[in-house]
Amino acid sequence: MSNRYKYDVLIIGTGAAGLTAALMLPDNARIAIVSKSELMSGSTLYAQGGIAAVLDDDDSVASHIEDTLVAGAGLCHKDAVRWTVKNGKASIKWLIQQGVTFTKTETDETYHLTKEGGHSHRRVIHSADATGKAVSTSLNEKVRQRPNVDIFENRVAIDLITHRKLFLPGNRCVGAYILNRENSHVELFQARFVVLATGGASKAYLYTSNPDGASGDGIAMAWRSGCRVANMEFNQFHPTCLYHPQAKAYLITEALRGEGGKLLLPNGKQFMHRFDPRKELAPRDIVARAIDHEMKRLGADNLYLDISHKPADFIKEHFPTIYQGCLKFGIDITRQPIPIVPAAHYTCGGVITNKHGATDINQLYVIGEASFTGLHGANRLASNSLLECLVYAKAAADHIREHFDEVPPPPDAPQWDESQVTNSDEDVVLSHNWDELRRFMWDYVGIVRTNKRLQRAKHRVDLLSQEIREYYSNYKVTNDLLELRNLVTVSDLIICSAIQRKESRGLHYTLDYPKTLKTARDTILVPTNYLARE
Ligand code: FAD
Ligand code: SIN
Repeated sequence: MSNRYKYDVLIIGTGAAGLTAALMLPDNARIAIVSKSELMSGSTLYAQGGIAAVLDDDDSVASHIEDTLVAGAGLCHKDAVRWTVKNGKASIKWLIQQGVTFTKTETDETYHLTKEGGHSHRRVIHSADATGKAVSTSLNEKVRQRPNVDIFENRVAIDLITHRKLFLPGNRCVGAYILNRENSHVELFQARFVVLATGGASKAYLYTSNPDGASGDGIAMAWRSGCRVANMEFNQFHPTCLYHPQAKAYLITEALRGEGGKLLLPNGKQFMHRFDPRKELAPRDIVARAIDHEMKRLGADNLYLDISHKPADFIKEHFPTIYQGCLKFGIDITRQPIPIVPAAHYTCGGVITNKHGATDINQLYVIGEASFTGLHGANRLASNSLLECLVYAKAAADHIREHFDEVPPPPDAPQWDESQVTNSDEDVVLSHNWDELRRFMWDYVGIVRTNKRLQRAKHRVDLLSQEIREYYSNYKVTNDLLELRNLVTVSDLIICSAIQRKESRGLHYTLDYPKTLKTARDTILVPTNYLARE
């Protein structure tokens, strides 16, 4: 018999968004927090550059708002931008109270602020080049100290439990089925409130800066349960990931360009001035597209990022992690340029939420990269993501606190039924389909798209959906199967959204519609249209 748990709040995901929510919820709430690997996990742990916030007297909220809107290419929701940016300073203050140590200036009196693409001021607070690790470490320690929080590691959420699935009236989320990876049992978690903080879906692409696990699980689960999603076509490609046969998902922070790093062709010449007057510090979509263009034009496997003109001490002090990381691959960044390529980095679209993180289903909240708040528009401004995690995690926690006493306990739900399935004896299907999916997403739904490529991708994702559905119905669930099932769903959402957008805007660039339409519209997908395929 598998375990059955009952909590006030179930939080799925332990990155910046999930941990912040756990710490912001009231002390009398009994909380379960679940991670599919360790508590320190997700993209948060690998974040490098920092967190954007207005902290300098010469900077202003208006300017941060304006930079966000410009990067978002006409598609940001202004209320979400204003709300997030206004709450920036308080969020950083809270992180410092939790013990996060940010890098200070030489005088040690103020915090060092760095610059990244699309920012008109220095406003990115950071912990050298390992900001995510500093944030994760402090929030982890605090969560472990809280007696009202139970931590469940190595647990993969499979699907949400809703009133609709239980054939009960109303539209409410009441828990989730969760695979315990240590004993392969599926456990039942029931809760009065459920928070999805499961991160993005960049693992849909062959080359990505994201760690394993960024398979869009929360987006797929919410979609299957009836939540709308928006703007999934806007997958952000980071311009500079290390190009090396042994390097997997190794990012070279944009802050390196903020501190003077230059992008170079294989012949050592700079080229960004031909694409944008802001050169190396243009928004990410422009820089990634310029690199992709030059690589294709020259038939080059990679281009270069060079900071070796700066003093070695400066480089080692500001970028100690990248210096050491590259050295392991035989590249001394104080003396030579770094080979780079763009890679899938961030999911700008996601589950539609309001300013409290609330979704189309009552008592279901989605926060962090899995959500669509309207902040990022058609292209996220660098270092606005961790800020969004913090601001919306607090907003969701506040909303839960306000409604805490109104929401009754969840109704009983049945245990997971495994009576009709067996152990798989052909896992090769999974590994083959993983590779196929990620390769065609890279080739056909990448930085530059066309109608023909998108139609090809659609045809293939439909075949994979059918195969995975059959597989899921016949075999016991495993982490690989669950991730592949979610990646196929999310890739389908990306492709369908990209097909619907008949223009080029921000991160969505298509040779068939190179112009930007006058009116900017979100791409909203409604699950009822897609239920037949689930
Ligand atoms: P994540 O941190 O990704 O955490 C997701 C959590 O959900 C993990 O704990 C995972 O185990 C869990 N999970 C997922 N699925 C399941 C499931 N089915 N069941 C149970 N648990 C599940 N942004 C910035 O603002 N500044 C930066 O400097 C920056 N640098 C970055 C560098 C890198 C290399 C990367 C990859 C991203 C960077 N970003 C940066 C983006 C930013 O880090 C992420 O958008 C942000 O950390 C997302 O936080 P999150 O809490 O939403 O999700
Ligand atoms: C980076 O450090 O370049 C990543 C910043 C971000 O993704 O916001």
